[in-house]
Amino acid sequence: MDKQIFGEVDQYINQLLLPDDPLWSDIIKSIEEAGLPPISVSANQGKFLQILVFLTKPKKVLELGTLGGFSTIWMARALPEGGKLITLEFNPVCARVAQHNIDRAGLADKVEIRIGKAIELLPQLLEAQEGPFDMIFIDADKPPYAEYFDFAVKLSRPGTLIICDNVIRDGKVLDPASTDEMVQGVQRFNLALAQDKRVDATIIQTVGLKEHDGMAITVVR
Ligand code: SAH
Ligand code: DHB
Ligand code: MG
Repeated sequence: MDKQIFGEVDQYINQLLLPDDPLWSDIIKSIEEAGLPPISVSANQGKFLQILVFLTKPKKVLELGTLGGFSTIWMARALPEGGKLITLEFNPVCARVAQHNIDRAGLADKVEIRIGKAIELLPQLLEAQEGPFDMIFIDADKPPYAEYFDFAVKLSRPGTLIICDNVIRDGKVLDPASTDEMVQGVQRFNLALAQDKRVDATIIQTVGLKEHDGMAITVVR
């Protein structure tokens, strides 16, 4: 089967089920115009994250990797009354673009961008006892995914939902000799996940307009 069909079906689902709101295309345009890479989750994946927020009714959501705020805004729009989302981003250009998009979406009071390296911000969140978070979306740089996940569990309570993007990398995770550090990062993460007694986990493959990849879906015991 050729991969074109995945993109066409994604488009079909988009047209059927996603609101025709210029906000989404404007966010994608703002990312492009700032010269940032086109690596936001797809619109259907954004909707998927949003449905998970509706299900978990989180008071506190944590995101690692903001980019232009696309996934952030999909999630934040579904927060219950009083719900807050903290998103960690180390690139100040991303943070500026994302803040603009968050303001425009009317979510400035619900979303806080923290600028810095996730590996430095995560221990600060722990130290300041800002958890537990009810839902965590890990989507920053891939090499330290295992460390990010360990912090995520420490910032959780039993029942916290932790989602990790890009853990299949077009099937490159199958290659034990891969020299790609992003692939190596998620291979190491996937193995650690398999051994992790603190969570129940699965990985769902993702196909569509973006390259073939996968999201780990885990619940803290
Ligand atoms: N979640 C976004 C996409 C994130 S792309 C969406 O789907 O809309 C990954 C982001 O992680 C980029 O913006 C990149 O700048 C950021 N990032 C990379 N390394 C980081 C680090 N060490 N700490 C925090 N953010 C990082
Ligand atoms: C990359 C990062 C992502 O979060 C993503 O969804 C796709 C690609 C990357 O850094 O290549
Ligand atoms: Mg991603």
